[in-house]
Amino acid sequence: MIKKTLSNLIEKSIKKLQKEKTFPKFVIPEIKVEYPETSSHGDYTSNIAMKIAGVINKSPAQAGELIINSLPKTTTKLLFEKVEVVSPGFINFFFSEDFLLEGLKKILKEKKSYGSSDIGKGKKIVIDYSAPNIAKPFGIGHLRSTIIGQAIYNIYQFLGYKVIGDNHLGDWGTQFGKLIYAIKRWGDEKKIAKNPIYELNILYVKFHEEAEKDSELEGEARLWFKKLEKGDREAKRIWKKCVKWSLKEFDRIYKLLGIKIDIALGESFYQSKLKGIIKKALDKKIAIRSRGAIIIPFPNDILPPLMIQKSDGATLYSTRDLATIKYRLEKFKPTKILYEIGTDQVLYLKQLFFAAELLGLGDKKNYFHISHGMMRLASGKMRTRKGNTIFLEEVLEEAIKKSLKVIVKKKSKLSKKEKDKIAKAIGIGAVKYNDLSHHYSKDIIFDWKKILNLKGNSGPYLQYTFVRACSILRKSRIQKQGISKLKELKLKETQEIKLLKQLLHFPEIIENAARTYSPNLLSNYLFKLAQSFNLFYELVPILKAKDEETKKTRLALVLATSQVLKNGLKLLGIDAPEKM
Ligand code: ARG
Repeated sequence: MIKKTLSNLIEKSIKKLQKEKTFPKFVIPEIKVEYPETSSHGDYTSNIAMKIAGVINKSPAQAGELIINSLPKTTTKLLFEKVEVVSPGFINFFFSEDFLLEGLKKILKEKKSYGSSDIGKGKKIVIDYSAPNIAKPFGIGHLRSTIIGQAIYNIYQFLGYKVIGDNHLGDWGTQFGKLIYAIKRWGDEKKIAKNPIYELNILYVKFHEEAEKDSELEGEARLWFKKLEKGDREAKRIWKKCVKWSLKEFDRIYKLLGIKIDIALGESFYQSKLKGIIKKALDKKIAIRSRGAIIIPFPNDILPPLMIQKSDGATLYSTRDLATIKYRLEKFKPTKILYEIGTDQVLYLKQLFFAAELLGLGDKKNYFHISHGMMRLASGKMRTRKGNTIFLEEVLEEAIKKSLKVIVKKKSKLSKKEKDKIAKAIGIGAVKYNDLSHHYSKDIIFDWKKILNLKGNSGPYLQYTFVRACSILRKSRIQKQGISKLKELKLKETQEIKLLKQLLHFPEIIENAARTYSPNLLSNYLFKLAQSFNLFYELVPILKAKDEETKKTRLALVLATSQVLKNGLKLLGIDAPEKM
């Protein structure tokens, strides 16, 4: 990591100064090295001189001079073309050509692992994502959770963490009492099997309509859920069918999205562990009885109390979530648990994490809610033809269809099969990128024009740039291994240098994205990289370069760019076809 190398160098320099008798001894503060927005401020910059100036009784500029003059000579010469102090005391580092070219070789050598690291070694992270509800549509919220959750999963894994993805399916709860009652009273299982989510949704809605008129129904539903909790055969049979029907539909969506989640224990898995949680909460005296229910109040009422048992004895989503935390801690011993869920559950998760801490289930700091915003259609309301599931699947299918049109229009010579495969990569990639290019907390708009815009900040633009790089490499007729082994390289143009510097940032971007759970940092980095690459392509001759040395260097840059684009897109869960 470049930042680390630089701060180590500065530390060495200050330590060396401190060996001199007259130099004050003090504890060296944290040495921050930043990546400046303007390139005239160096490739990296540090404010350390300003931080220590007071302690050593010098002006920031003088402190800066002292530091740079005591940097280890040989390394400094190797790494930098120039190190300077500018007002009011920033130290700016400018990399040498040798250093940059070493970096280029590193990318070509490390290939698909370029950007990875082992900072996560020995650490485990559980990511709770996707989590649709049985017998209900796979909604837009679940789509966002799936896409963002998976990207964060990939990024952490790339950094050496052991990651466990858990699909916490909503497959338990009082709603199943209503559903079972409705199926038995008005449903036709054969008809349901043909279009399950749609039919179940209708039955569920019907239950609520009827319950308005007939106050008995709620009680009947409660009874059925009680039976289900007690393991009644008929209740279990119907519940199991609902799960099976739904999973079949969900699997189609996961398949379209190209997503596989490690485990899907679901809420029902925790049935047997709920009594234990409630007992523990009562024994520890953190839970109290209130009007027949059991709730966990919080110190000074900083949050509303969390109910863990209803007055009729039924457990809740929260009870199951507490049991889930306990199970995950025991089973996986994670350093962190991340929850990718919409912003509508912000308060609930605060309560949950706090309650877990009160229960002795770890420190709430180790739990984090990645709370995503809403997604709206550009044209206003969401169209719902046969319920949302179909809608979601339709959107994905339409993305693929629209992508196919773009390709066909371009009269490519690819086979039908190849075209279909590419259309899928582009369509699904476009939907994913739209989600991943905004900070997760933002509400986003689904606008076909933007999503599929080949010239804007879109998935297809990145894929297209990758294709362009691949095509240059194919035309060069030089084997990739040949380019990787190039020895004499030479940087000439500013566009080359700018591109290479950007390429060298990739590892840092990934770390930032992981630390802040923000895949959008990676997306936007890739977008800027693609822009630089396209500018380089327009301004600098590659295959027609004047001499062999220059041509080889430029091809090496093309190869490195294609590698970084590919690695980055892979982390985002987006396929990168070589032809379009
Ligand atoms: N099934 C829930 C919903 O659709 C999301 C579950 C999220 N995970 C959790 N551990 N609570 O709202």
